[in-house]
Amino acid sequence: MSYKIAVIPGDGTGPEVVVEGLKCLEVVARKFDIQYETVEYDFGGERYKRTGETLPDGALEELSGFNAIYLGAIGHPDVKPGILEKGILLNARFALDQYINLRPVKLYPNVECPLKDKGPEHIDFVVVRENTEGLYAGAGGFFKKGTPDEIAVQESINTRKGVERCLRYAFEYTRKRNRENTLTLCGKTNVLTYAFDLWERAFHEIGEADYPDIKREYAHVDAITMWMVKNPEWFDVIVTDNMFGDIITDLGAMIQGGMGVAAGGNINPEGVSMFEPIGGSAPKYTGQGVINPCAAVAACQMMLDVLGEEEAAMALETALIDVIGNKLKSMNAGQMGYSTSKVGDLIADAVATA
Ligand code: IPM
Ligand code: MN
Repeated sequence: MSYKIAVIPGDGTGPEVVVEGLKCLEVVARKFDIQYETVEYDFGGERYKRTGETLPDGALEELSGFNAIYLGAIGHPDVKPGILEKGILLNARFALDQYINLRPVKLYPNVECPLKDKGPEHIDFVVVRENTEGLYAGAGGFFKKGTPDEIAVQESINTRKGVERCLRYAFEYTRKRNRENTLTLCGKTNVLTYAFDLWERAFHEIGEADYPDIKREYAHVDAITMWMVKNPEWFDVIVTDNMFGDIITDLGAMIQGGMGVAAGGNINPEGVSMFEPIGGSAPKYTGQGVINPCAAVAACQMMLDVLGEEEAAMALETALIDVIGNKLKSMNAGQMGYSTSKVGDLIADAVATA
């Protein structure tokens, strides 16, 4: 079979890093005899400025016909914050029911880590973030907007079904990962006594009934930010809601060496998933060939893994680790010692010659 992959290079440095990801994909696919075709879409800030539309009619239906979506970055300095994020990224996550945001936090050898005395042996965990509910559901509204009596309400939506499918995914993932077999629920049961009461009950019910082999732990979100810095080695898999997941995964990205490496998957286990480097469009580096494409390559690796091409995914990760560890001077934009495209070449070569 041949995989159909939709490519959305997007804004800013998105297109530059996507090119490198696809370069590596081509080489690894050839090596492992994987057939695929790509279709590119120009969704993003420039198109929005030109046409006034974020996703055109029928786009989501079209995207749902692919095996995977590979996304560069969404966000444009001339477009008011929220429009492209809601219109493209969140729209796709919701419409395609990508109910998991999967964020590995893994420090590779020789990558500079801001945590004192922590190395790759301490930082290797995965965050499973719920991706379609919570505060992101858009429930709420204004009352008396623009007056001194204005009220703004933004509610967190937590459905038993949504929470349960996220928890089950996290339990399954922990089992498959087979490291410490420990799943930590990150919540705020001491204050958010409705939402996280539901999460906590479901967590223990499901865990007890169907995953007795997985150890269950719990941490409040404020405390977890502390532990992620002080004792990241405590974590195997963390499961949490949409908003908390958004916050702690940026912290996760920093302790794994920054936006140059961090990748994420928006996953619908029964449908089409979307993979992206999480660094954003980085407008100030656009067009200079200095941005680090490693996160985009890591997103490709996740895509292969979720498609079931595990061997190819592993080969790509090995090449990535080799180049990061032995070639790059730094993971920071402009300090790698090579251009964006040269880093892509190095990784592709490492795949080919391994
Ligand atoms: C992320 C991003 C998005 C989010 C933004 C761009 C809407 O920060 O993927 O974590 O908040 O989910
Ligand atoms: Mn985020």
